[in-house]
Formats: sequence, structure tokens, C-alpha cells
Amino acid sequence: MSIQAHARARAAADRLRARTGVDRYTAAVVLGSGWEAAADALGAPRVELDATLLPGFVEPAALGHHGVVRSVPGHRGELLVFLGRPHLYEGHDPDTVVHSVRTAVAAGADTIVLTNAAGSLDPDLAPGRLALVADHINLTGRSPVVGPRFVDLTDAYSPELRALAREVDPALPEAVYAAVPGPHFETPAEVRMLRTLGADLVGMSTVLEAIAARELGARVLALSLVTNPAAGLGPGPVNHEDVLRTGRAAAAKVGTLLADVLKKI
Ligand code: 6GU
Repeated sequence: MSIQAHARARAAADRLRARTGVDRYTAAVVLGSGWEAAADALGAPRVELDATLLPGFVEPAALGHHGVVRSVPGHRGELLVFLGRPHLYEGHDPDTVVHSVRTAVAAGADTIVLTNAAGSLDPDLAPGRLALVADHINLTGRSPVVGPRFVDLTDAYSPELRALAREVDPALPEAVYAAVPGPHFETPAEVRMLRTLGADLVGMSTVLEAIAARELGARVLALSLVTNPAAGLGPGPVNHEDVLRTGRAAAAKVGTLLADVLKKI
């Protein structure tokens, strides 16, 4: 992380504290497409802000994304909830993409929960199912880490947090998430390639945020909601509206699971 990116995260955390009066966050949750109901399941916010009031936050452009930050009284301390995230495919650089994670860490959070909507490469992972990200394949060609900082990504997705999530739902499968830049979906040939590479899910977020969290020493839990089969694996074409609709339909369930997991952290 550059000095400038660090300063921006500090400034955002300072502004957040000024707005919320909260000195320290225990965990932060970054929610994907259309997941308002998941945010609501985490509890009534003490404060809700337009994210762009905080330095370094940009207006998210993707359909179904809202640039909102909530401070939510949690079971074991205050939770920071980000509704909506910027993506590489909107033309943002990695520093912008991971800014919420760095802000959360600067605000004291040492646990980062990332959620996403993903296409399935595995017929056993049907739309509507949730999966724990156990590992990733970063095919974005980008990294939030700059300079000779050789961040270890063994167990990037905390085995302890995954075990806690499985205490809540023992049936939660573990998956390898491949991240691509998008915004186009994959071709059927690319989908076969991703499967051969060892991926179970494909999406356009999460991995840079997880890397940024690991660089800062925070623990990461990532949850994917399967919204559709990837290209060539389902009955028809892949489209963003289906992704949003499935996301909205399952968001409350995701939120309840997250709330139960966060109680154990
Ligand atoms: Cl099929 N591909 C990608 N890259 N992202 C997705 C998706 C597919 N479904 C939901 N998000």
C-alpha cells in the first residue's frame, strides 16, 4: 500500500469517527450486488452515511449497488457495513477498489467479511446456494500491493472463521473463487478453462479486497452467493438482471447467516 493510499484510509477513518462517534470497529462487512436485506439483517444502524462523504470513496456505478456506509451496534462491538463496492470494470484502480477494506482496518477492524454474487462452475453449486470462499485464483492481472511486499496468501481466507461459519451452517460448501476483470461474462471455453484451473466459482470482486486485508494483517471471511450457472452450463444466456434478482431473493438469508457468524467472532 502506498503512503497516499494509507493516508486516504486514515482520513476516511477519522471522518467516520467524527460522524459516528464510534472509536473502534470490531469487524467490517462489504456487501455485493443488491444485498440491502443482508445489511438489514445485521441490525438497525446507529448511523447511515453516503459513502462519498468519506475521503477516497467514489460513487458506485453498477446497477444494484449503493454507496452507503452503516455503523451498526453488534453483538461484540460496533460493525461497519459497506453497501456497494467499486469494481475494476468501472475503470477504478486497485487502491479505489480496496479503499473500504483499508478504511475499516484504519478504523480498528481486524476482521473483514466480504460477500459477492458469483457464477457457478460446478453443477453441485446451484443458484441460490451459499459457499464459503476457501481460496482464490486472481485473474484480474492487478494487485493492491505495491513495492517489494511479499504478502503471504496461504490461508488468505481464515480457516478459523470458516470453521465458525460451518458451526452456524454445517452444510456450507467451500469453494475456490476465480476473479476476472469483467464486465463481460465469460465464454463457454473460458468457463471450461476456469474449471480446469481448479475454480468452482467465478466473479468480478473480492480478491483484491482480500489481498489488501491480508497485507494489513486482518482476517478475512468471504461468502459467495451462487446467482447463476456460468456460460454454457445453464439453460440460457447469463445476464446481470438474473444476478441481481437472485441476489435480492437470497440476501436476507445471507444476512441472517452473517449475523449468526458475527456473534461468534
Ligand atoms: Cl457467470 N461470471 C462472472 N465473471 N461474474 C459473475 C457471474 C459470472 N455470475 C455472477 N457474477
